[in-house]
Amino acid sequence: MKRIAVLTSGGDAPGMNAAIRAVVRTALYHGREVYGIRRGYAGLLAGEIEPMSSTSVGGIINRGGTILRTARSEEFRTDAGLRQAAQILTQHGIDALVVIGGDGSMRGAVALRQYADLKVIGIPATIDNDIPGTDYSIGFDTAVNTATDAIDKIRDTAYSHERVFVIEVMGRHNGFIALEVGLAGGAEAILIPEIPYDLSELLRRLDESYQRGKHSSIIVVAEGAARAADVQKFLETHTPYHIRALVLGHMQRGGSPTAFDRVLATQLGVLAVERLLQGQTDEMVGIESGKLVTVPIEYVQMTTKTVDARKLEIAAMMAI
Ligand code: F6P
Repeated sequence: MKRIAVLTSGGDAPGMNAAIRAVVRTALYHGREVYGIRRGYAGLLAGEIEPMSSTSVGGIINRGGTILRTARSEEFRTDAGLRQAAQILTQHGIDALVVIGGDGSMRGAVALRQYADLKVIGIPATIDNDIPGTDYSIGFDTAVNTATDAIDKIRDTAYSHERVFVIEVMGRHNGFIALEVGLAGGAEAILIPEIPYDLSELLRRLDESYQRGKHSSIIVVAEGAARAADVQKFLETHTPYHIRALVLGHMQRGGSPTAFDRVLATQLGVLAVERLLQGQTDEMVGIESGKLVTVPIEYVQMTTKTVDARKLEIAAMMAI
């Protein structure tokens, strides 16, 4: 294997740069050429491929976003798109590809393998943390810390004005961010899509806590479970409390990665290249129970990652 390419795809996640750096430097360390593909699969279709050096990834371990840029590409998913992508990789003499991204990016890698004769390894990176086969994906820890920090700040106002704040966090169809952030931020209630909730029950718990002398509350809502504005409307209709709604939005995707994400990204980047050099392909690298692992990349589309329901119970216990 001579020439390894790397791309980032899907939503950006803090720590992607640390992963790019690790891929590039590990490949160079082992005497291989490395190419960066800009703007994910969309950039691949446009032939945006350039050589990378050790210095081209200097000073980025602490930077959020991705220096390679990223995109979501509809065209790539088509038969013609996949065929064209495979041709472009062959024209550039690329015989191995590292894909850094979320579940959609891993699915893209699986699809590409049906058209291209090259080795592919995936590195999980998404703040949503919804990729099966790994306990953590790159960016989740940073997003959780960013959102927790925001909640801590909001709590000051919630307390001072005796208000209820409904805070919507990201996570697409999953509640991993909401659960973690709700626990870390001491939320009085957490609504996630995986576990049915009842707004009347939420009302009852709010009333109870006000009767116990609590005069402010934080409710964390996963975007996949409800919109903060709708929950606000419901609570305003049924309670006398002052309710405010807030959507944390894309601020959760930005910022300098935590030490955890940098170390994880570095370890996964190194492992991805080492697996390629060992002749492996069609794998995703990850971390399970503190150990670095590899799983077949198809695993991502064959199964669904489940939330730890016990954490929701613990959050409820802490909210009395
Ligand atoms: O997958 C990461 C994520 O931030 C999700 O949490 C969110 O639903 C989505 O991307 C937002 O996508 P976009 O940046 O395209 O609006």
